[in-house]
Formats: sequence, C-alpha cells, structure tokens
Amino acid sequence: MSKFRTHFSLPASAVPATRSIRDSQDALTPIARARLIKHIKALLVKEHAVLVAHYYTDRDLQVLAEETGGYVSDSLDMARFGHEHPATTLVVAGVRFMGETAKILNPEKRVLMPTLEADCSLDMGCPVDAFSQFCDAHPDRTVVVYANTSAAVKARSDWVVTSGIAQRVVQYLHDHGQKILWAPDQYLGGYVQQQTGADMLLWQGSCIVHEEFKGRELALMKARHPDALVLVHPESPAAVIGLADIVGSTTHLINAARQSDRTEFIVATDNGIMHKMRQVAPDKIFLEAPTGGAGATCHSCAHCPWMAMNSLQLLAQVLEQGSNEIVVDPAIGKQALIPLHRMLEFSKTQDINSFATGNA
Ligand code: 13P
Ligand code: SF4
Repeated sequence: MSKFRTHFSLPASAVPATRSIRDSQDALTPIARARLIKHIKALLVKEHAVLVAHYYTDRDLQVLAEETGGYVSDSLDMARFGHEHPATTLVVAGVRFMGETAKILNPEKRVLMPTLEADCSLDMGCPVDAFSQFCDAHPDRTVVVYANTSAAVKARSDWVVTSGIAQRVVQYLHDHGQKILWAPDQYLGGYVQQQTGADMLLWQGSCIVHEEFKGRELALMKARHPDALVLVHPESPAAVIGLADIVGSTTHLINAARQSDRTEFIVATDNGIMHKMRQVAPDKIFLEAPTGGAGATCHSCAHCPWMAMNSLQLLAQVLEQGSNEIVVDPAIGKQALIPLHRMLEFSKTQDINSFATGNA
C-alpha cells in the first residue's frame, strides 16, 4: 500500500445533480431558443470568435458550433482544432480543463467558457500538492497524466494524454523501457496497463459519470440484445470494459457506430454523445448502458453534471460581456505546454482512426 494519498473522494455536495441543471435550461420556449441562437451567431461574428464544443454538451450547442464554422469533438481534437484555427477568441463549451488546455496551447488568444463552474471529478480528485509528492517519491518513473487535470498537474508531467491517444503513448514509452506513473483515472490507467503490459503506478481517481455503469446489469442487457455492439469509454470500471466490443475515446465510439454493419448499439458513456451518433447513423438504434442496479445512486444518470452546465443562455452572456475568461499562470502554462505539445506532435505520427480497441 502506498504511503501517499492517491484517492480523494468528493463529498456529495461537490457534485451537482444533473437533472436539476437540465430542467432549468429546458424551460426556454422554442421561439426564445431560436431568437437566442440567432443572437449568439451574430455575437460570434462580432467577436471574431469560434465555438468549440465537446460531444457531451447540450445538443443545441453542438448544432450551433457546427453551423458557425466551429467544431464538436473529443478532448484531443478540440485541443488541436482550437490551436490551428485563426480566430482570436475561442469559446470552449465543455469542462474547465478543456478551456485551460486551449489557453495553454494558445496563450495569445482569448479563451472564454460559458461557465467557469464546469469542473471534472478527475481534476478535482488530483490536487497538485499531493500529486507532486507522489511524483517526487518516484523519480525513476515517466509521469503521464490524463488531460482531465489542472494546468498545474499537467505542468508536473512529462506527457499529457487524452483517452484517444493514451494507449499509444504508454505503449511507446513501455517499448522504450520506461516505467510509468499514471494519473488520475484508475480505470483508464488499468485498461491501458492491461493492454500494453507496461509497469504503471496508478493514481486512484475516477469519473463519477462512467463509474456509475454497472457490469452485471450490462451483461443482462447484452443477453436481451444479443446482436447489439457494446461501445465503452475507458473511464468505465473494468467489469464494464470487459463486456465491450469496442473501447475508445468518444470520437472512436462514434466512428465505430458509423462504420459498423450492426444496427443496434449499447453505449457506455455520457448520453450527450447520442446526438452525434444519431446524426452520423440515423437508421441505427442506440441504447444507453445501465447505470441502475444494486448499489446504484444514479446521481448523474449517464450525463456529466458539469458538461450540462453549458447552456445557450450562458454562452450569450459571456459573448456579450467578455466574462468567464480562462486565465492560466504564465509560468505554469509555459511548463504545461511542453507535455501537451509532446502529445500533439506524437499524435501526428499516428493513425488516429485505428486507436479504438476492444474484445470483438
Ligand atoms: P474524450 O477525450 O474521449 O472525449 O473524453 C473526455 C471526457 O471527459 C470523457 O469523460
Ligand atoms: Fe470529467 Fe467524467 Fe465529466 Fe468527463 S464525464 S468531464 S471525466 S466528470
């Protein structure tokens, strides 16, 4: 047992309930919604801004991003798009680490977010002081951190990875004889360890959304839908990953849904992804993997409460007021840029579309 604290459980009060956030946003009438969308489109032009959204955000935000020349993607591609786009203002609809990543990669650009309250349980569960002590105690290990971390934690790392590239990076390091210290997601880390055989010391963080998926109930659902392909994000517990046909980042799961000749899919990730899945494969059937069953709390019910905080109303407000600007300490940003750049350069050498793995 490690003498270092690598597990920080969040008090229930730190996790907002998704349903109440959604209810307040859904109160908008269709006419008010259409008016607001038109207003935001004009503001984006006026502010020379581009909207970059994650697949888990509200459907309206995803549609708006695509209609206005912005982008909807996973966290790796969001970082890449924002970095390469010429807009002087990036508006990031997602969670705070995504806004911070955009700012670190683009210190000269203004980065706004609809809300600065949009946290992530992985980020919250990996405070930089405790993490640094853990790293200091293992100087022989290469430090690989998941993008779902603060700028300060990234600055303490050798490599930053997203779920779309984690396995490739660790495989590369393992092939070069390196031992790894991994943080913060224990499930993604465990999965990568199992796939690569690398020597990995794991921080014990978790995503409160994916952790709710249940292996036993998923097995029962699979039995009821024997022809369905099971798509699983690797932040899910090992029992759930073990039942997957495809394991991969959000983009990889969407690509699998599009490319597969199956017509039915069971999806174990945030249900915000269903919008894109239905868009790319309108004739297919997508079922949510179960979060219920013995011991289930279903606090988030397969939808991240922090992603749900991003709304049209707040987006309009930040564009009107220039508020909610992401600020990263320049010294920390400069240091965090090194492992982030390493990831982006490494990704250029890889065939991204072949990253998803699975048991199929
Ligand atoms: P992706 O990089 O696969 O989009 O995952 C980000 C995330 O936060 C998943 O919970
Ligand atoms: Fe973080 Fe989980 Fe939300 Fe992704 S879904 S942002 S990992 S809390």
